[in-house]
Amino acid sequence: MKALVLAGGSGSRLRPLTLSMPKQLIPVANEPVLRHCLRNIRAMGIRQVGVVEGEHGDQIRAALGDGAALGLDLTYIRQDTPAGLAHCVRIAAGFLGNEDFVLYLGDNVVVGDLAGAAEEFRSSRPAAKLLLAKVADPSQYGVAGLRADGNVRAVVEKSPCPPSDLAIMGVYFFTPEICAAVDRISPSPRGELEITDAIQYLIDAGGTVSAQPFTGLWKDTGTVEGLLACNRLLLDGLPPNIAGVVDAASVVHGDVTVESGARVTRSVLRGPLVLGAGSVVEDSVLGPYVALGPQCRVRKAVVRDSILLGGSVVRGGPPVTGEISNGRLRVTAPATSSAEDRSAS
Ligand code: TTP
Repeated sequence: MKALVLAGGSGSRLRPLTLSMPKQLIPVANEPVLRHCLRNIRAMGIRQVGVVEGEHGDQIRAALGDGAALGLDLTYIRQDTPAGLAHCVRIAAGFLGNEDFVLYLGDNVVVGDLAGAAEEFRSSRPAAKLLLAKVADPSQYGVAGLRADGNVRAVVEKSPCPPSDLAIMGVYFFTPEICAAVDRISPSPRGELEITDAIQYLIDAGGTVSAQPFTGLWKDTGTVEGLLACNRLLLDGLPPNIAGVVDAASVVHGDVTVESGARVTRSVLRGPLVLGAGSVVEDSVLGPYVALGPQCRVRKAVVRDSILLGGSVVRGGPPVTGEISNGRLRVTAPATSSAEDRSAS
């Protein structure tokens, strides 16, 4: 089995940050989302991975290289315009050949038993297998309606009347039948080739699309709320480790990770939080739920519930809260949805 990871797209919901970087490289708990995806793919026993890249493809390649460090063999596939998930499958036909594959959205974070799901797919080989997660607001997602036998009857994309509360996660298993289906569908009203239309084509042609409820953690990190919620969840599970230097005038509460070469002076650290290698924090109050990337400089600042990318500089100013920033560009969560997401997680 191969994997196809989608790391293109417009990232419009994370602008202006995504004008200069791909959203798949934004770190959660200090690890880029795309690396989480690739680790899960490796754990499914897969080595050959196609990576669909868009306008920031050079940064994706610089971050991942040939994949050998992750135990993978990566092939990059250029998508000139973000024309939809099914378009990605179309342009990857040469890479996919006649093999089964897992389609993995490069902005989805999944913690749970994907290896077991892959194994079940390998042995049963339906035309497609979807992983489903119960959500409170199914009208915001691709949703599956099920038959009495548990297989999928219909898939709909962001419908005001969804057939169930079971959202389709960003990890799909396919036999090569999907490659014929993506060639037969037309663009949707929003102008994209939708993977849900290709899946519905399989069902209408008499193929079996199976479904498995997924009970692990699944977060779509395409929005600020999604990224921050995911950051909180992963920080909650991070084992504390102080490898850097925290001076005697600083105070540490809760589970805190200070990576090697980081220095903390006259500050308060409230876990869960992580400070990246080589960062310097002075006269500041950080946390809870802060992920500070490597080589950041923070001075006389208050930061909570935020992701600061590597190399960020924060000096004084109002408290930084509920934001993702590289020190120059920032995106913030709307106050209401951030609070909702927090209670949901
Ligand atoms: P989306 O989040 O649905 O698409 P997007 O990045 O265009 O998002 P936005 O609405 O914020 O503009 O895409 C899911 C994943 O698939 C994500 O990793 C980007 C990737 N993708 C592609 O690689 N090519 C595409 O044509 C599309 C639509 C998405």
